[in-house]
Amino acid sequence: MHDLLFDAADTPGLHRQILAAAAGLTANEPDGVANMANVAALLWHGLPDLNWAGFYRNLGGDLVLGPFQGRPACIRIPWGKGVVGTAAALGLPQRVADVAMFEGHIACDPASRSELVVPVMLDGVLVALIDLDSPLTARFSEEDEAFCLELARLVSGRLAP
Ligand code: SME
Repeated sequence: MHDLLFDAADTPGLHRQILAAAAGLTANEPDGVANMANVAALLWHGLPDLNWAGFYRNLGGDLVLGPFQGRPACIRIPWGKGVVGTAAALGLPQRVADVAMFEGHIACDPASRSELVVPVMLDGVLVALIDLDSPLTARFSEEDEAFCLELARLVSGRLAP
């Protein structure tokens, strides 16, 4: 179900497929963990050159690991620390071309070279963050960032516990 056509040359088409699949998979499911798990799986299987794809959740001000694909990761990230904590504190996406150049980057997987973190906001409140890591430097484009922001808007009301 929800097979994606993996045409790496057609990034906009791939993004549209992931958005459509995410909309369909989460539409009638109230459980946030189930929805995050399916969205993480869609990102992992749909986007090329990732070594991690998943969520951190804002649980009462703590940024706690959520459903993901990839190697086991840091469980709690302090607010304002690392790429994830910075995106949370600013409420803004962080697109890092070279994580070695990001002051305070948290190396959960030493293979990571670039990272994209997008806050998922609902009514002005941070619900979670989408986090993508790649073993390639400068893997993520403005287009990828816009796609993740659209995905965040799409699922923001569907991630509650
Ligand atoms: N690198 C992130 C930590 C999370 S892992 O990439 C899964 C950071 O600096 O916040």
